[in-house]
Amino acid sequence: MSNAVVLQGVGRLGSAILEGWLLTGAIDPKDLVILTPSEKPAAEKARALGARINPPLEDLTQAKAFVIGVKPAKWAEASKAVLPHLNKDAVIVSVMAGVPEATISEGFEGRKVVRVMPTTGVAHGKGVASLWSSDKAAFDLGLKLFEPIAETAILESEDLMHAATAVSGCGPAYFFAFTRALAEAGIAEGLPQDVAIKLARATLRSAASGVSGSETLDALIDRVASPGGVTAAGLVVLNENGALDRPVKGAVKAAVEKSTELSA
Ligand SMILES: NC(=O)c1ccc[n+]([C@@H]2O[C@H](COP(=O)([O-])OP(=O)(O)OC[C@H]3O[C@@H](n4cnc5c(N)ncnc54)[C@H](OP(=O)(O)O)[C@@H]3O)[C@@H](O)[C@H]2O)c1
Repeated sequence: MSNAVVLQGVGRLGSAILEGWLLTGAIDPKDLVILTPSEKPAAEKARALGARINPPLEDLTQAKAFVIGVKPAKWAEASKAVLPHLNKDAVIVSVMAGVPEATISEGFEGRKVVRVMPTTGVAHGKGVASLWSSDKAAFDLGLKLFEPIAETAILESEDLMHAATAVSGCGPAYFFAFTRALAEAGIAEGLPQDVAIKLARATLRSAASGVSGSETLDALIDRVASPGGVTAAGLVVLNENGALDRPVKGAVKAAVEKSTELSA
């Protein structure tokens, strides 16, 4: 088998993965085969660097990895045409939310599967990706494809994919919702709307840049909140009787339940 990696679907996530690979040089563009029904900027960028877009399906026979980047409702249909041309040893890399490994493997006639749940931050080489596979070789290949573009988390069971999705997949929206609430709280205290929004957004960016080191989250909080100080006064309210923990746990639980329901 060659080193060819096939990417089927260049939508929001597929484009982000492709951009991340091109940015980091994780995959030689000449080893990339892209399947897309419509022209996409990321695919065109890859084409200019030597990737093949919608080549004859016979070209897939040497692929070592087949990355499914289509919607869960589309993969069964989308795989039909390619299946007869895929190498038996090709590993199926699924980034689809909710579709179990066993279902995908059955659809791909028993081929090995690795499930990956990445965020679109992979486009800048700064995503987060949770991985799970029952097969070590498939898992290692998934790791090789995503480690250059994401911080990776290894899951011990497939069931944990729901919780991983709820935390890292949905998490950015929760941080944005908190940032909006912070801006609204600033407005309530008299800041002009544009200033409050600017401050809240910039604070999110600034806080995120501080989280990249090895300090614990408690240490990061302590760095801002000196005892008896202004931040500490606010934290008392956030921590009172689980005031912050309760809605966050509720949101993650609801997301896990929805993810579980969608995969049934
Ligand atoms: N978006 C995220 O943040 C995210 C995060 C984690 C996981 N996921 C998973 O990633 C997958 C894609 O999600 P998305 O948000 O990127 O969806 P999307 O933007 O709708 O992209 C899906 C892409 O699949 C393409 N497609 C449809 N049929 C195809 C076929 N037969 N062959 C090749 N390509 C085909 C579509 O092409 P056209 O545009 O030409 O119709 C579309 O660009 C889903 O399974 C989702 O669960 C997404």
